[in-house]
Amino acid sequence: MSSKVASYEKKLADAIQKVFEQEGFPTLYDPARYILSLGGKRLRPLLTLMGADLFGGTPEKTINAALAIEIFHNFSLLHDDLMDRADMRRGQPTVHKKWSASHAILSGDAMVIESYRYIAKAPISILPEVLDLFTTTAMQICQGQQLDMDYEQRMDVSETEYLEMIRLKTAVLIGCSLKMGALIAGADPEEANSLYEYGINIGLAFQLKDDLLDVYGDTKTFGKKIGGDILCNKKTYLLIKALKNSGEQQKKTLLQWLSAVDFDPEEKIRYVKNIYDELNLRVITGNLIEKYYLASLDCLTSIRVSENRKKDLIEFSENLMYREK
Ligand code: IPE
Ligand code: IPE
Ligand code: MG
Ligand code: MG
Ligand code: MG
Repeated sequence: MSSKVASYEKKLADAIQKVFEQEGFPTLYDPARYILSLGGKRLRPLLTLMGADLFGGTPEKTINAALAIEIFHNFSLLHDDLMDRADMRRGQPTVHKKWSASHAILSGDAMVIESYRYIAKAPISILPEVLDLFTTTAMQICQGQQLDMDYEQRMDVSETEYLEMIRLKTAVLIGCSLKMGALIAGADPEEANSLYEYGINIGLAFQLKDDLLDVYGDTKTFGKKIGGDILCNKKTYLLIKALKNSGEQQKKTLLQWLSAVDFDPEEKIRYVKNIYDELNLRVITGNLIEKYYLASLDCLTSIRVSENRKKDLIEFSENLMYREK
């Protein structure tokens, strides 16, 4: 990692520590402070600072927008964990486990509101564009999250439907993070859009990798329960491919587990994972991740800044593809 990126990470960490510093209402703000203090990768706000840097923008001018995005992302996790019945996040109990479902809902709401306070600090000359991008993205995430839940009930979700669902729930926020930085740095709109498309491709690869780690990752490193998606019947790329590529017996076993009501969770995970192994889905998913990663690089070529300036961004994104957490 370059020293510049390291200094951006430090600036972000210091600023995040100051979010929700207000006194009072501990039962409202403690869950928000808790999730933010657990860190995570903080890749989205970093991408905002890096997106600005690409066009000569400074972190000072961009950091509030970066914070808005990270606060919004953390809000989405509180509600997502409730919806996904997840007990562990970033290696610690989720907010609804540590407090309650109501806390996760209301603290999450407070985080959305706070994110708008930060986004509204953008330079007045581009505030309309910034607000439009942020609001459009936030709404798309709701749409993607709703599809994600709808698809739990369906057995015939196509690969195309899956890709659109992950574009909405995950990729648009990564595209938005980058474009936000570019806009605040005064980038040409076409180039800001190329950076957005870069983010969409990285984002699709990122969610595919998240699906992969949910099966093949290590709980300690990943910080989430391995097999959580299998237990929720999430229509991940792996499950969609498994339903499509399985032979008669494998498909019967899969469908039995998908409709089971009373079962041992670890047994279900073991059986489904075994079918994924038989169908070589780890490699197949890895290939698609690679495809989107390569597509992302193409989007960068039309941005007319020196190759040297793009280096940090390329290195950072490449590391995301090989991540284990
Ligand atoms: C988790 O995002 C939600 C997804 C879109 C997969 P991250 O993997 O970026 O989570 P943190 O912020 O690093 O914990
Ligand atoms: C999360 O997708 C997307 C959003 C939070 C908007 P997942 O449900 O796969 O994320 P994790 O695996 O819980 O982090
Ligand atoms: Mg989840
Ligand atoms: Mg989810
Ligand atoms: Mg996941």
